[in-house]
Amino acid sequence: MCGIVGYIGKTHAYPILIKGLKRLEYRGYDSAGVAMINDNGNLNVYKAKGKVADLEAYCEDKDTSGCVGIAHTRWATHGEPNSANAHPHYSASGRLALIHNGIIENYLTVKEKLVGRGIAFKSVTDSEVLIQLIEYIMQSNNLELLEAVQVALHQVIGAYAIAILDREHPDTIICARQSSPLVVGLGSDGAYYIASDASPIAEYTDKVVYLNDGDIAVLQPGHDLRVVNMDNETQHPNVKQIDVTLGQLEKGGYPYFMLKEIFEQPSCLRDCMRGRISVEGYHITLSAVIDYRDKLINARRIIIVACGTSWHAGLIGKQLFESLCRTPVEVEYASEFRYRDPVLYPDDVVVAISQSGETADTLAAIELARKAGAFVFGICNAIGASIPRLTQTGVYIHVGPEIGVASTKAFTGQVIVLSMLALCLANERHTISDEKYKEMVAELIRIPEKMEKALKTNEQIERLAPIFTYAKNCLYLGRGYNYPVALEGALKLKEISYIHAEGYPAAEMKHGPIALIDSEMPVFVIATRDKLYEKVISNIQEVRARGGRVTALVTEGDEQIRKFADHVIELPDTIECFQPLIASIPLQLLAYHIAVCKGKDVDRPRNLAKSVTVE
Ligand code: G6P
Repeated sequence: MCGIVGYIGKTHAYPILIKGLKRLEYRGYDSAGVAMINDNGNLNVYKAKGKVADLEAYCEDKDTSGCVGIAHTRWATHGEPNSANAHPHYSASGRLALIHNGIIENYLTVKEKLVGRGIAFKSVTDSEVLIQLIEYIMQSNNLELLEAVQVALHQVIGAYAIAILDREHPDTIICARQSSPLVVGLGSDGAYYIASDASPIAEYTDKVVYLNDGDIAVLQPGHDLRVVNMDNETQHPNVKQIDVTLGQLEKGGYPYFMLKEIFEQPSCLRDCMRGRISVEGYHITLSAVIDYRDKLINARRIIIVACGTSWHAGLIGKQLFESLCRTPVEVEYASEFRYRDPVLYPDDVVVAISQSGETADTLAAIELARKAGAFVFGICNAIGASIPRLTQTGVYIHVGPEIGVASTKAFTGQVIVLSMLALCLANERHTISDEKYKEMVAELIRIPEKMEKALKTNEQIERLAPIFTYAKNCLYLGRGYNYPVALEGALKLKEISYIHAEGYPAAEMKHGPIALIDSEMPVFVIATRDKLYEKVISNIQEVRARGGRVTALVTEGDEQIRKFADHVIELPDTIECFQPLIASIPLQLLAYHIAVCKGKDVDRPRNLAKSVTVE
């Protein structure tokens, strides 16, 4: 949700903070702010409603000097987006400033107590309550900042990643984490960086520490990193090496990250399969399956938990596991699962899918599953995030940082990992023949090449897009493996162009959405050649009979559908279960071009955040 950046060292902090905020802007962008301590010991806080660029413009004539600072980009939870509610928040005396990502659930009770003691608040946020509480504890008990933070964190309930500046101690940043991500970067010159994820840090250092829940870190340049817990017990941070190139963090000549990420898919999927699929032997090796073979192949049931696009990937996973491994699968929204008191057995395998690895509901679902004794397997993109650390084992999708808020390459990365996992387990369980296994692995290897072909539809789609910009509603239809593709296509359009869109199983259309069809409503049908092809043709006819305008995604060379669809987009053929990897591409491009035609900010759609760290 919100993004946090901080720097303490020997150089000018402000440019590092602004650049970092820009890298994190995908996490939230309704307001932003920055705080620095200058050489005279002044703690300057500047905040602006809007994007990071608005903050930058606001700061143009301000004193932004100082070698220590913290900064924040906000996605509102408590209090409307305005500069008062933006972070950093000053303490009542103006001595401290805090940035916070997360939610303090008992903030109202704490606030009432503080108001009763005469403390005035400038914002309506839960975050300001925390800094006022810390200062109140500091003053009334005559404590140092670290001690006051420890006492205060014992009193609050909720999720937080925080960083605090103290103008009396310009050589120190104190930060802490509980259920919201926070990474500390260790600069070679003794400087420290902090951020919500490694992307703002990667260009300065490759040595990072992912703080654990309950950790409080004291950052002092030139001194070793000190990590303690709320009870002042020393923790032993684990320094990790990160491997993110600058190129991965920049747009590389594309106008938007989303377009760059759509076009990156073939190479990302090659990276994802590299070292896992042997091209000579047509064999898949996943270390998680080697390490936990018995647990995985003897699963009584697989339960997939995820949110958003990752949930759509899960729906494809269900079909793959059921048809290839013959294991029953349930796919759950993590947000529902966590509160539903589900029945879980120790021989269930729960598969948590998440691009960011930080989605609060998915984390809570994992916690619940682990408490119930289930084995939890993670499929994640962000290296070192909370989900891979909380699951017993898993597979990284390795598609590189995804910056565009609308997920694209992470979706196909998740589907390819689910395909590899299902094939691997099917082979171990002997639920598919050796011949079929090898044939499918060989096809998986060809997928990136076929995606390159599918990307060639870009120009055709760019030409078609203006036709759909005036639509108020769109319908996406698909069956079998293409039903989740329809859901994902509709979600992409909603997310970035704000056109209402629904994904539906094509045959179910008769039970409701058919009433909406008229000549004004575009209907996108995924009608590739598979076992349900003839049935989908009948569904297209039903739409046509009601005056609907059909754009069909078809297998190349299909002449039949061309006769009655308004537009056809041809795609390379593949095995039915891998079709989502190909068919998703034109739908991503369609959503992208429609949003661009409508003048929308594709990478930063309104109200959305890339990483939803609140429930
Ligand atoms: C947000 C993002 C989506 C994403 C979903 C789940 O809504 O905007 O793109 O699919 O969260 O996120 P995760 O990181 O768990 O896959």
